Amino acid sequence: MNDNVQNDYSALKAHYRFTKEDEAFLLEMKPQIETFADDFLEGFYEFIWNFGKTADFLKDEEVLSRHRGKIRQWYLDLFKGTYDITYFLQLHKIGETHVRLGLPTHYVNAAFNFVRVFTIGKIQKHCNQSETLTERVQAFERILDINLDVLTSSYRQEEMSKYLSLSLTEKTLLTWLKKTSSYFNYLLAGALVIVATFAIGLFGYDVYLLFAGHNDVEEGILTILGSLLILWAAIELIHQEMAHLRGGSFALEGFITLAIAALIRKILIFSLSPAKSVDVLMYGALVLCLGVSYWLITHRSQPSKK
Ligand code: HEM
Repeated sequence: MNDNVQNDYSALKAHYRFTKEDEAFLLEMKPQIETFADDFLEGFYEFIWNFGKTADFLKDEEVLSRHRGKIRQWYLDLFKGTYDITYFLQLHKIGETHVRLGLPTHYVNAAFNFVRVFTIGKIQKHCNQSETLTERVQAFERILDINLDVLTSSYRQEEMSKYLSLSLTEKTLLTWLKKTSSYFNYLLAGALVIVATFAIGLFGYDVYLLFAGHNDVEEGILTILGSLLILWAAIELIHQEMAHLRGGSFALEGFITLAIAALIRKILIFSLSPAKSVDVLMYGALVLCLGVSYWLITHRSQPSKK
């Protein structure tokens, strides 16, 4: 790791065109930055607390106050003026700690947005008379982007090392499984379109039964409503499958919605016949179970509010 950092950190600075001049600007701003470090910390934690699962990571007062101290140091170090191997090793350590804890990379990216907006606002306010205001802001933006690069590179390395540690057979199997699952997903999308087409057919048939006098008006309308419900659920499922094909997560709740719609259609039809009260009750119990499963699935993926 040390060798890597040694080789990489000069290149990293060069890629971001981070110069000695930038280092000097940052160092010059340090005394002013120190005066609002407390404001920064207050805003930082208020900002990240809205992420929902923050409290799962900063789980008690001890961890929080330790993190607070580390963030203060990290923030002031952005303006330390010397960005050598020790500085970069420290950044790698932060990234590795976050990866080890399973901290979502999105949290780090979003937190950086706060750091950027807050600090640029302060620099603009305090240095608005300075002729080098633009250069100062640019110097800060560069060091911040370099930091973000290093912190997120730990996540990429983790993914790479997981992949590289696989044997050749495992890699081949993984590639084959990915391809196969993608073909099956397209097949599933096609099948869903067929289901939606049948649902349109069912709707047409129900309308025909009503107008041909095979069903009385009440039964006819309820049956049509039921088939519309199925059509709506099938369309919803197609939307979710499209989102899945675009890289989103698999939406199990879509299938549950479709099953609920089909059962509700049965309930609507059977509710007209007193002889089918037991069936209505059984279907009702099934809808309840599916409703509970739906609730559990959708609430599992929603972050708890703090
Ligand atoms: C600007 C973004 C962030 C920076 C610069 C940062 C910085 C740091 C630093 C310097 C450490 C100590 C690393 C070590 O010495 O091993 C650390 C650890 C940690 N960070 Fe962050 N952090 C950031 C965002 C976050 C966010 C958003 C969370 C949670 C939602 C978080 C949770 C943690 C936790 C739980 C630890 C371990 C604390 C401990 O047990 O000592 N960090 N972070």
